[in-house]
Amino acid sequence: MEKKITAGITAIGSYAPEKLLSNFDLEKMMDTNDEWIRSRTGIETRHMAADGEFASTIAIRSVEDLVKRFGKKAIEGVDLVILATSSPDALFPATASLVQSHFDLEAGAFDLLIACPGWIYGLSVAQAYVESGLLKKILVIGTEALTKLMDYSDRNISILFGDGAGAAVVEAVEAGYGFKSFILGSDGNGAKHLGIRAAADQFPDGTPIPDGPFMNGREVFKFAVRIMPNATLDVLKKADMSLDDIDLFVPHQANSRIVTAAADKLGIDHEKMILVVNEYGNTSTASIPLALADAYDAGKVKKGDNLVFVSFGAGLSWAAMVLTWSTD
Ligand code: ACO
Repeated sequence: MEKKITAGITAIGSYAPEKLLSNFDLEKMMDTNDEWIRSRTGIETRHMAADGEFASTIAIRSVEDLVKRFGKKAIEGVDLVILATSSPDALFPATASLVQSHFDLEAGAFDLLIACPGWIYGLSVAQAYVESGLLKKILVIGTEALTKLMDYSDRNISILFGDGAGAAVVEAVEAGYGFKSFILGSDGNGAKHLGIRAAADQFPDGTPIPDGPFMNGREVFKFAVRIMPNATLDVLKKADMSLDDIDLFVPHQANSRIVTAAADKLGIDHEKMILVVNEYGNTSTASIPLALADAYDAGKVKKGDNLVFVSFGAGLSWAAMVLTWSTD
């Protein structure tokens, strides 16, 4: 019988722009204050793309970081670049192509747009290619320059977001390690609750799309605290695992209240949960790989550890994944 290929992550890297935008900086730009932002969201500061830094250049820096950690060989032979983003350089060409050409990869490249869960969606696509034997090595990136799209006169949304990127190489790993299960979810009935307008001025049901970024914070909050625990339980069930099997819970870093509520509902020990939203804000598709790279640096990710990634966002959408870490 032909041996089954198991895909997993063999290298990671991340990058956050040097420039910081703190709550105190925001106080000078709009009617808000540090205490309100910290108590409602847990965010203290966020990284902000400088002039000339965009989703493409931030993504390139995250891949450079991956190469610095794991060597040039890590990206040799990459045959596809999947780049998830909510703030592409342009609607087209794909930002993925700009990363592909920078590293001179003989690879296909495409952008993936499903808001914050995009990096997990990208991992699932990469898993399918690798485990089917159609492709061997795939670079999956989540990258954001969301601060470029924010309206800093609107305190409801702009205080939440930050910039950054994370990159992972997905390829075959030793049997018993790698991806165990994933779930992908979407409910377009919630489209009106969160987004940034592009070509249309209304949704198919006739609901007008406001100019620029729009968000119904309360609706998104309610959705998030329901979906994060449910998606976690669903993905564990699919992997035939229980919460006790999990070594590290890596949730989308949207808001510390959402993440903590989800962990508490599940009864997850906070020691087993990564929370870095205070430093990065919500970096959409980059949030999980940025948090993962920080956890890796802190020695919290070891070979054989079971990790859960879970995310939610505009769409409304969600995704979760269970992975057994396969590298030292
Ligand atoms: N500074 C000061 N006051 C503010 C600010 C601000 N930045 N923003 C809102 N307020 C005021 C409001 O005007 C309101 O005042 P009012 O009572 O006089 O009307 C008051 O604060 C309370 O506002 P609420 O909206 O009730 O505050 P809430 O506790 O719900 O917190 C928040 C708002 C932080 C946005 C919360 O709802 C939330 O985190 N929602 C989820 C958002 C999210 O995660 N979005 C990203 C999803 S991921 C993706 O796909 C991009």
